[in-house]
Amino acid sequence: MSEFFRANISEVDPLVSEAIDNEVRRQTNGLELIASENFVSEAVLQAAGTVFTNKYAEGYPAKRYYGGCEFADVVENLAIDRAKDMFGAEHANVQPHSGAQANMAVLITALDHGDTILGMNLSHGGHLTHGHPLNFSGINYKVADYGVNKETEQIDYDELQQKAEESRPKLLICGASAYPRTIDFARIGEIAQSVGAKVMADMAHIAGLVAVGLHPSPVPHCEFVTTTTHKTLRGPRGGMILCREEFAADVNRSVFPGVQGGPLIHIIAAKAVAFGEALRSDFKAYQQQVIDNAQVLAATLKDAGLRIVSGGTDNHLLLVDVFMDGKGITGKAAEKALDEVHITVNKNTIPFDTQKPFVASGIRLGTPALTTRGMKQDDMRAIGGMIAALIHEPESEEVKTRVRREVAELTAKFPMYPGRLKEKQTDATAS
Ligand SMILES: Cc1ncc(COP(=O)(O)O)c(C=O)c1O
Repeated sequence: MSEFFRANISEVDPLVSEAIDNEVRRQTNGLELIASENFVSEAVLQAAGTVFTNKYAEGYPAKRYYGGCEFADVVENLAIDRAKDMFGAEHANVQPHSGAQANMAVLITALDHGDTILGMNLSHGGHLTHGHPLNFSGINYKVADYGVNKETEQIDYDELQQKAEESRPKLLICGASAYPRTIDFARIGEIAQSVGAKVMADMAHIAGLVAVGLHPSPVPHCEFVTTTTHKTLRGPRGGMILCREEFAADVNRSVFPGVQGGPLIHIIAAKAVAFGEALRSDFKAYQQQVIDNAQVLAATLKDAGLRIVSGGTDNHLLLVDVFMDGKGITGKAAEKALDEVHITVNKNTIPFDTQKPFVASGIRLGTPALTTRGMKQDDMRAIGGMIAALIHEPESEEVKTRVRREVAELTAKFPMYPGRLKEKQTDATAS
């Protein structure tokens, strides 16, 4: 056999190998609170790292442009069937390489160049692909936007109705990247219907909650539903589109050949594994814990004197106003201070922010990843205490040293990826 098939990555490419080892260490030894991230299972990682990466399979199961696709068909059909089952959808396309490409495919399905879309303002929680001027959605279509109410910091559905009547969009886009409250998809469906628009719900952030019924589903109310597969859904990095049967052929054509070439079959195999995991009964308990943890984290930070945007959270994430009209620090400074003690978050604008997006008044925190590690309410209280201490005294070396030690002690109790970290881990959850 050629040496090519034998050599280990640490011998072939020590530089990349070392970066991978360091990333395992970083994920294991830090507190991951980025709301859009999660830790996949060892099984999902194994599926993603398979010889399916070698395979071209342009087309769809049983209708491919290449030979040798019989096993690619098996995994794609499994992913499709499980996705439909999980969300009660008539059709699923599991090929989008990312959430952005899923959205792009829906936009080219539903719209002609120059048509009007109505999407949520990015600074109020929307996503780039919902109409940002630098994104294909803002470049190719006319954009109107809606946001949250200044007092409640929650979507103002009456205002949305009014904006829809004014802008007469062909497509109303809902779903968000930084919105901590339940989205009323039924109401949005009614608003769209009243102005003759179709709806694309981008449930990327909340898909895991939707899958188990802990957030109302957009599927009955929206023509198109898109998602990423790597956030609360806890699958590999990728995207997916759900729609009614009447749009199935158009959506498939928009994904391939519309915006993509060959599908990533190794990732589709990993999606199938993740969807299988999400269909198991313990996934609901996991999602409930994600929400419970977010609520305790929000309450802890609030009690410590920080302002929680909209007053709390219904889902997996919270937005914390750390600037508080100049009384606190910027989101950028908070992100940096927390990074120094191995707590990973991202700065985020808050509604009606006075700071530029790259500075921002807020940070966004999410609990999916730490909940996957097994952390619960008491751990969230401890983490909330660490974050608040850092934000109140970002320059204090004493606080930093203490929090670094607390982070190390906490993460050591929740080991992960046993075969992938070179150092030995103890498992406090095993007892
Ligand atoms: C609501 C929403 N839609 C789409 C995306 C884009 O997903 P991707 O990064 O896979 O392109 C994101 C990413 O954070 C998101 O939050």
